[in-house]
Amino acid sequence: PLIRLEDYRPSAFLIDRVDLDIRLDPHATRITADLALRPNPDGDPAAPLHLDGDDLILVAIDLDGAALPAEDFAAGPGGLTLHRPPRRPFTLRLVTQVDPTANTKLMGLYRTDGVYCTQCEADGFRRITYFLDRPDVMAVYTTRIEARRDEAPVLLGNGNPVESGPVGTDRHYAVWHDPHPKPAYLFAVVGGRLGKVETSFRTMEGRDVTCAVYVEPGKEDRAGYALDAVVRSMEWDERAFGRPYDLDVFNVVAVAAFNMGAMENKGLNIFNDKYVLAAPETATDADYAAIEAIIAHEYFHNWSGNRVTCRDWFQLCLKEGLTVFRDQEFSSDMRSRPVHRIGEVRSLRARQFPEDAGPLKHPVRPTAYAEINNFYTATVYDKGAEIVRMLKTLIGAEAFRAGMDRYFAENDGRAATVEDFLAAFAAVTGRDLSAFARWYERPGTPRLTAEGRYDPAARRYTLKLAQTLPVEGPPLVIPVALGLVGAGGPLTGVTCPALDGGVFVLDRPGAELVFEGVAEEPVPSLLRDFSAPVRLDLALSDDHRLRLLARDSDPFNRWQAAQDVALSLILAFDPVRADAFAQALGTFLDGEALADPAFAALVLALPTEGEAADALARDVDPDAIHAARRSLRARLGRVLRARLEGIDAALAPATEGAYSPDAASAGRRSLRNAALDLIAAGDPEAGAALATRRLSCATNMTDRLAALATLAQIPGEAREEALAAFGERFAAEPLVLDKWFAIQATIPEPETLDRIERLTRHPAFSMTNPNRVRALVASFAMANPTQFARADGAGFALVGRFVRALDPANPQVAARLLTAFGSWRRYEKTRRAAASEMLNGIKGVPGLSRDVADILGRTLQDG
Ligand code: ARG
Ligand code: ZN
Repeated sequence: PLIRLEDYRPSAFLIDRVDLDIRLDPHATRITADLALRPNPDGDPAAPLHLDGDDLILVAIDLDGAALPAEDFAAGPGGLTLHRPPRRPFTLRLVTQVDPTANTKLMGLYRTDGVYCTQCEADGFRRITYFLDRPDVMAVYTTRIEARRDEAPVLLGNGNPVESGPVGTDRHYAVWHDPHPKPAYLFAVVGGRLGKVETSFRTMEGRDVTCAVYVEPGKEDRAGYALDAVVRSMEWDERAFGRPYDLDVFNVVAVAAFNMGAMENKGLNIFNDKYVLAAPETATDADYAAIEAIIAHEYFHNWSGNRVTCRDWFQLCLKEGLTVFRDQEFSSDMRSRPVHRIGEVRSLRARQFPEDAGPLKHPVRPTAYAEINNFYTATVYDKGAEIVRMLKTLIGAEAFRAGMDRYFAENDGRAATVEDFLAAFAAVTGRDLSAFARWYERPGTPRLTAEGRYDPAARRYTLKLAQTLPVEGPPLVIPVALGLVGAGGPLTGVTCPALDGGVFVLDRPGAELVFEGVAEEPVPSLLRDFSAPVRLDLALSDDHRLRLLARDSDPFNRWQAAQDVALSLILAFDPVRADAFAQALGTFLDGEALADPAFAALVLALPTEGEAADALARDVDPDAIHAARRSLRARLGRVLRARLEGIDAALAPATEGAYSPDAASAGRRSLRNAALDLIAAGDPEAGAALATRRLSCATNMTDRLAALATLAQIPGEAREEALAAFGERFAAEPLVLDKWFAIQATIPEPETLDRIERLTRHPAFSMTNPNRVRALVASFAMANPTQFARADGAGFALVGRFVRALDPANPQVAARLLTAFGSWRRYEKTRRAAASEMLNGIKGVPGLSRDVADILGRTLQDG
């Protein structure tokens, strides 16, 4: 049964106020909900009242204080219907009972490591009480939470704390009130034994806010970085978007079992602890960066998501795409903008491009879904962010800010749509954005083809651009940031009337740009800063690409040029070209490696095997790609050996001192570790020795893990000893063991399957903690292409077994794991047949969840 955008109708009833009394109990939590309802003037006046429910037990129901006769309603685990609801304002009191300990889906109210917490997006609130569980029904919530004091000394809710006190001898309560009307998906409570760190922040409006981060007791010393990121996020949103915080407290709680990254519940963000806890000995630079980004993301939702929410779940990109864009801008301001941009594009290409090219593709604003939780995708989030970025490029920074101000002003307190968002920018610019809006509707990645011609006599350069879309339809509006680069650098004195601020807007199928005053044959630098989420087809010689690496003013395209050469060498190896590439890399490293180490590390990181597979598009043989990439890296490692050792030595003093997570320090570590890895690619024996030495003196997790990852690629005793030692050293640190699981799951050797089976019996592994499953199984499926896609089908079968085993307990995690098969049709035929067999085997399993059935059905669909 599909839910369709075109079927949207306003709710027949609204709920203005919700008063909750939640008596926490491990197995029998009682929820009393007093709902103030009224007919919606915009709704169907004759409709019954249907409240959503999921796995609920109704204990009692009163209407305006009187018990409701049995013939007036029908209640089941999946919903509650009042056949003849009053056509005036009325109150319903509902008493429900749930078992948080038995809640393995981690939706609604559940318990993890003894802590009670909730996850209500997208549709978890209906697992707590019967409700109009849709984002356009917004209410003011008051929540009383009661629990045993020893079990839950900390009781947190949305909004501001109102009162608290004892109940009898061993229980206590707290009341929280959230004055901002919100949809049910933003509701949250937490109860448990938790330690905290806190600080205060004064907003631009003069409000004093107490900010706190709650973690497992004893881990308070790992919460400081997250707390600091909260404060920096608050400052930044005021500065960059004029958005102040609007409550007296802002709480973040870290929990061990969580289906996704984190959740922006009003005033009470709940996080996967992986994105909160950090200490130099346990977290890598990448972890610190992710914590900063996700803390910011959830905080920024307070405006883009909470104050302005979504009318329905088809509008998910309205809050997610925009908020990803906002967190990307934040991280870019906190760190290196070009380095961060390259990271964003790498992840877009690794996750979103394949999604957009396979059976799970969908528009950034989908038009139909069977299970909304399957649409928290790279397309909605990351391509959604790219659309916002393109809008800013098209209208300019000032108009963009004015449009954002207008969007917030006009939609504050409302449940909005993508149309409302675009209308704000149309209003401030006077532009018609209806053609631009097609980005939200058209699935698939557009292809941009470019061809240049130079006429030396006329000193004229002509550039033909054309767009092709995977599905028929009118053209998209593609901002193409571009410039021309000569032998000595960007050309000056060139005129091209079609360019505005270095950007050409391709809003037709094709166009021809004419540049005058071009003194030498130029190399076009197209899609600077990756100005649009498209695939670029531009035939350039290696020499010309390497000129961009050396001379372009746009750091993104410098990096891209090296990637393009490397990718073509992976796809078709040529020793002469490979050595020329190595020479160019050498010159690059000599010139500037130490000036911008983070950037240099990215230049040294060759395209992944996944990217190569994505470029091939069909008949993919992961073994061939792996071998080709490996031999290219080996060659680069040998040719660049002396330079890499020079980098290693030069960076040793700076990286071996006290640890600081800042971007510059992280950049030095990333270059030094990239050098180590490339040395090892060229000379495994020397690499193993160097990595072993690095392991023994590493003072932080970044360097330790990098050395272990390098070593893991080199079979032998040193590797096994290092893995064993690491496992013992961090036996009591689940988040560190996750890294250890992932490193072992991604070893590109046939024995990895046995290793994974063995690790599932490790005492720290658990099928009920999504982080463990992702570390061991999802990393295998997503980041070990040769073993996942083994020709004998054993890798597919392994993942298939986990999908089946997980589905009854946690369908969301099972469905997410199954998306690893999204590109199965692109394999060569033996692997394709093996994948098909595995997928069809799951299809026969009785009682599949809607989540898994939906992904499976779409994955197997023709086309
Ligand atoms: N809104 C959350 C975010 O910040 C994601 C929560 C999604 N959870 C889910 N079960 N679908 O992106
Ligand atoms: Zn989000």
